[in-house]
Amino acid sequence: MKSLKKLLVASTAICGTTFGAYATDLEVTHWWTSGGEAAAVAEFAKAFNATGNNWVDGAIAGSGGTARPIIVSRILGGDPMGATQLNHGRQAEELIEAGLMLDLTDIADAGGWRDVVNPTGLLDSCTVDGKIYCVPVNIHSWQWIWLSHKAYADAGVDVPANWNEFVAAAPALEAKGITPLAMGQQSWQTSGAFGVINVAIGGLDLWTKINVNKDAEAAASPEMAEVFEAFGAARSLSAGSNVQDWNQATNMVITGQAGGQIMGDWAQGEFQVAGQTAGVDYSCLPGLGVNEIISTGGDAFYFPKNDDPAITAAQKELAALMISQPVQVAFNLKKGSLPVRGDIDMSTANDCMQKGLSILAAGNIMPDGAQVLTPDTTSRVEDLLVEFWNDTSMTPADAQAQYAQIISEAE
Ligand code: GAL
Repeated sequence: MKSLKKLLVASTAICGTTFGAYATDLEVTHWWTSGGEAAAVAEFAKAFNATGNNWVDGAIAGSGGTARPIIVSRILGGDPMGATQLNHGRQAEELIEAGLMLDLTDIADAGGWRDVVNPTGLLDSCTVDGKIYCVPVNIHSWQWIWLSHKAYADAGVDVPANWNEFVAAAPALEAKGITPLAMGQQSWQTSGAFGVINVAIGGLDLWTKINVNKDAEAAASPEMAEVFEAFGAARSLSAGSNVQDWNQATNMVITGQAGGQIMGDWAQGEFQVAGQTAGVDYSCLPGLGVNEIISTGGDAFYFPKNDDPAITAAQKELAALMISQPVQVAFNLKKGSLPVRGDIDMSTANDCMQKGLSILAAGNIMPDGAQVLTPDTTSRVEDLLVEFWNDTSMTPADAQAQYAQIISEAE
């Protein structure tokens, strides 16, 4: 393939045209394999291929938890891809410190990223020692519940407007054989839902005391007991949900087999692919309709260093393209995420994205859990929550006591 390309470059050069001079294959790894995610990533591929380069899709099936170790070990093992997805935050820090990642500062300066990226913290997450090593592509927030209008219509009750109404409506759904809460059985989904319930029911101050200040007393407080009670209610309401992947759980909501799903805004892409309309076929409640706030985590692309100057040029071309205005609009509309720049027209975004955009504009934002807890604390909390989720003999009070202990030992 490569030699064919070289031949093409040589022959076009002889013919006096420049076509093909920049045509380079670039393998791009990511974990976007659901219907909505695949539609979104295809926008990147289309834009990149239009430059004459060739996007070689390196989708890795499974969740980020499966993909990230594969991505990191390929880079460490000397088999780097051309570009790769990771989450905003500290996931690539060691690779950068080891000198394995391409410095994008020149491209970022040329594109004025410092002036356009919003919130600016997204670019800070890409910056190490004053140099920029990634391009943020979206803001993804976790704090949503997605509700099926069909499920509530079939049960003869109104679509809930908040968490309390959601819990109150559950018996009517159960009477019709509908699972109130769809939940995929993977640990990141369990702990993600807990984080959403935590900030919705307990509020941001309580969340901050525990997750940022590592305040064990706050973790053991009566306010936090209410959070654990609500998480216990979620456990009972999802008893009929035995799917694994998050998008299978979203599909239960799309088809009316379940009332709702607590999931990040990437769920929107699934409703779109299924041809459903926000406000007509489904509703979304940010902050579970109780406390409207969004976290500003998301995805960024990194570019492992490569000796081949053609690859480096293609990497920089892709980085610039991913954050360009038209690509930001096209990609994020499909993905259900918010764009990383504030200077673009998102008027065609659906109801749910508009809600997210206005919450962002109002500044009701919070950090992502991964930005404030070490991986060790995160995995201890995750293990505890999974144990609680699977063992119904464990009470919310038991789980809270163990949780407060973990927070007391957190750094
Ligand atoms: C997250 C990622 C989202 C979405 C989600 C589920 O890590 O930030 O873009 O893909 O996983 O696959």
